[in-house]
Amino acid sequence: MCGIVGYIGHRQAYPVVLKGLKRLEYRGYDSSGVALIDDGLRVFKKKGKVSELEEATIGQNLSGQIGIGHTRWATHGEPSDRNAHPHVSALGKLAMIHNGIIENYASIKEELQNKGYTFKSDTDTEVLLNFIEDIKENNGCSLEEALRIALKRVVGAYCILLVDCNDPHTLLAARKGSPLVIGIGKGEHFLASDASPIIEYTKEVVYVNDYQIAIVKADELILKNLGNERQTPFITKLDMELAAIEKGGYDHFMLKEIYEQPSTIHDCLRGRLKPDVNQIIMGGVDVNLDQLSKAARIMIVACGTSWHAGLVAEYLIEELCRIPVEVEYASEFRYRNPVINPGDVIIAISQSGETADTLVALENAKEKGAIIFGVVNAVGSSIARLSHAGAYTHSGPEIGVASTKAFTGQLAVLSMMALKIAQAKGTISPERFSHLLQELAAIPAKVAKILEDTTGIEAIAKKYKDARDFLFLGRGYNFPVALEGALKLKEISYIHAEGYPAAEMKHGPIALVDDKLPVLFVATKDRYYDKIVSNVQEIKARKGRVICLATEGDTIIPSMADDVMFVPDADEVLAPMLSVVPLQLLSYYTGLALGLDVDKPRNLAKSVTVE
Ligand code: AGP
Repeated sequence: MCGIVGYIGHRQAYPVVLKGLKRLEYRGYDSSGVALIDDGLRVFKKKGKVSELEEATIGQNLSGQIGIGHTRWATHGEPSDRNAHPHVSALGKLAMIHNGIIENYASIKEELQNKGYTFKSDTDTEVLLNFIEDIKENNGCSLEEALRIALKRVVGAYCILLVDCNDPHTLLAARKGSPLVIGIGKGEHFLASDASPIIEYTKEVVYVNDYQIAIVKADELILKNLGNERQTPFITKLDMELAAIEKGGYDHFMLKEIYEQPSTIHDCLRGRLKPDVNQIIMGGVDVNLDQLSKAARIMIVACGTSWHAGLVAEYLIEELCRIPVEVEYASEFRYRNPVINPGDVIIAISQSGETADTLVALENAKEKGAIIFGVVNAVGSSIARLSHAGAYTHSGPEIGVASTKAFTGQLAVLSMMALKIAQAKGTISPERFSHLLQELAAIPAKVAKILEDTTGIEAIAKKYKDARDFLFLGRGYNFPVALEGALKLKEISYIHAEGYPAAEMKHGPIALVDDKLPVLFVATKDRYYDKIVSNVQEIKARKGRVICLATEGDTIIPSMADDVMFVPDADEVLAPMLSVVPLQLLSYYTGLALGLDVDKPRNLAKSVTVE
């Protein structure tokens, strides 16, 4: 997810674009850039935050009444000056910025290379830009027509802004799948990924639709479809305040990111999970499949929520692939001089890709000859670059300190990895493989179903918000979910919460149970169901306050609980992607009920880059 800003009108473009980029930094912030036209094309772009771009442009000629700007969340090509947007075409006449993924960029790039084109960056954006210029030059058509022809060939998602140094009075834009808003001013137009850079200038906006092209001049806005037919712009009035818009209308980034999960899990699966042809395509896994499937053991190294994802992966890989797995806290792993043999496989899980303990643990392991496979969200981050291979979760920037969508993205990647390795090893039947692919494909819709009505979860949060202690219990795949639920509640509400294997209670912790202690069971339908029913009864017998997370349609567990939350049924090996969502919401609503800052909890940082 990247931030897009454009301006054309009577003002100087640079201040408007730069301020707009700062408002969009929550959408991505690994590099940024601006293109301006005034007696020629000038492009400034830099790795890092927008403030670093601002510093780099001090003393430069920043004149021009037309400009485009971009703040990047990398998908193709690591964060760097050369991969930052705007990109400039081969002939140096055009500049373009892009938010989205061109899925068929490789075939287009090959065609252009066969014509002698070379590329300065690793991005799909530069490929599309040169494709547009190639069409314009070879067909002798207008830039608008070349854009239309090119977009008919594109597969994927895009929001693009395109300027031509030979026409400083026209800004072209197009959209499919990635948002684009155009603000209508007096003798000026503002373009952006959302309304936050626009609202201070005008509240009259046009939301561009998929497959539309916008031809924008200072005092004219024309919309056309890809068939070159004019379409009437539909002007609406913004009724949101700026602060709300950056959060997409949600009160907090944490809530926004919980609700993004149907689409972020879908984005993680997109292009990889192919249930219709019974395939999973993962470049990083495919090239290392031999080593992964022949590994004598697999170690997983991570911290916090990512460590919980590793525990789920342990159950998955051992069950499906029959490979021994050890899950290690990175902070322990790096200091205890672990036994690492050349060829050992280490899976590193990290949202930020910058966690110091995980990074150093991996550096040590790599020196001892281990193969590092990174499951990371931040493209081009230190852990991603240190890994021999990997798979990105494509969850987009996670702003809330508590990790939510990154966790389910990690589980989606790890599930696909385990399935691919099991298929390569022959440790999974074709029927079960095919069934799990269908089940995995259905997860985004099931998460969306959970999010349709969260009033019950909010009520439970309000009921138990004054608890001093909380227990989260689960078995099997739901044990790591119990740990994650406890961590979320601790982080967001500051209530002391512990996660435990449900059967472990009788070995001591059950002494804690009294009529004040809420005990939350993650008790979805799985192979442990009958056992967990007994565990619930053990707590009830000691007057504990029982909250249950159950499978829709279950009547036994709910009949025993004081309060219950439901999730749709799913194969137990994939169920954690569903079970965790109500627990994320429980922590959010509890923190809210206690009047706490759920996006920036006390004492915490989003990425722990110190040891
Ligand atoms: C999770 O809610 C926490 N914010 C924290 O435990 C986090 O998961 C941990 O610091 C690891 O971060 P990483 O995934 O970026 O490496």
